[in-house]
Amino acid sequence: MQKYRTDKTWEWNLQNAPAPVQVDTVPSLNGRWNWCGIPVRSPMGISAGPLLNSGWILQYAAAGFDILVYKTVRSVARACYDLPNLVPVEVSSLKEAGSIVPEKSEMSGSWAVSFGMPSVTPEAWQKDIQRTKSMLASGQVLVVSVVATAAPSLEGEAALEQLADDFADCARLAMDAGADGIEANFSCPNVDTADGQLYQHPRSAARVTERIRNAISTAPLVLKIGRVETRQAAESLVLATSQFINGMAMTNSISAHVRCGNGQLLFDGQQRGICGDATRLTSISQVKLFRDVCQDLIKSGRLTADMQPQLIGVGGISTAEHVNDYLAAGADSVALATAAMVNPRVGLEIRESLSGNPPHRFHETGVRRGVTG
Ligand SMILES: Cc1cc2nc3c(=O)[nH]c(=O)nc-3n(C[C@H](O)[C@H](O)[C@H](O)COP(=O)(O)O)c2cc1C
Repeated sequence: MQKYRTDKTWEWNLQNAPAPVQVDTVPSLNGRWNWCGIPVRSPMGISAGPLLNSGWILQYAAAGFDILVYKTVRSVARACYDLPNLVPVEVSSLKEAGSIVPEKSEMSGSWAVSFGMPSVTPEAWQKDIQRTKSMLASGQVLVVSVVATAAPSLEGEAALEQLADDFADCARLAMDAGADGIEANFSCPNVDTADGQLYQHPRSAARVTERIRNAISTAPLVLKIGRVETRQAAESLVLATSQFINGMAMTNSISAHVRCGNGQLLFDGQQRGICGDATRLTSISQVKLFRDVCQDLIKSGRLTADMQPQLIGVGGISTAEHVNDYLAAGADSVALATAAMVNPRVGLEIRESLSGNPPHRFHETGVRRGVTG
């Protein structure tokens, strides 16, 4: 199986993707699984990032992953940040954004991610989505991650309106191309414009989410969010957006500054999202926080049970035990990026281990906040 070349550019990895394969799926995992109401063969996904195009998607679809999130696309082409895009870091566990972590020469579980959400043109990604969708097996879903491109000349209300419109246009284009659902990226830590931090502003998040909902009718919609540190912030985001969405994926990453050997800060001193091992414990506790918040809101009558979003656990997963930890915390499914890039066989290894010892969930979700059919 092919690995992403961290010494090469993003464009190189796009052009030198694995040759498309016919997907020969591994056996379904015991239990009933669904992604936002669509039945899937397992709760195992690849999160937005590693799946640059059809070649990469089909490689991972044949290697134990059934919820496939197409890397974040835009309504206009956008170049990638310069190399390095992936910088290994030395840190055991991160709780909150803003710390300084040392660079490391070898990857040992966590890295700083610096791409800036590049995208090919909508015409190119739409054609690719169409091709990919036709080659996936039944019980596999193709989710497309989208983001709006901020217009630098706008401010305030006008800027928010433009973001909402662009998110909605992009989501509509992805659905037209054949996506099974949309993941709206409200949480890119590597851009300093409003499109990267929407999840921290519940009222703005609600406005944009409603616009996307109107554009894609009843199709599944997930929000990808970043680190939420307080119960109050989690509650505000759920209350503001749950009427428009089917799920929330968390945690995108935890931002930090990266210091290199000579003491200087990389990336001109700006923060980058740290992904991998170091984020797992914090992300699991964030999933638990959101599950508890939803249950308390239901108990107090402020959220109806059918409005409760599915939770998709992301961050630092590389073993069956990690999958179980997320499910036990209240996730309905999980997604991997880093571990699947470091070891493209990791999905097969996790599946083998889970098939002898099927995962148990915190609660039987059935079809919560899902779509039918
Ligand atoms: C190479 C790479 C590219 C990524 N690109 C995106 C992206 O385009 N959109 C997005 O929402 N998240 C992106 N992410 C974040 C991942 O989806 C995921 O949230 C994060 O890596 C945490 O999971 P992990 O610990 O398994 O890597 C990217 C991550 C990596 C490693």
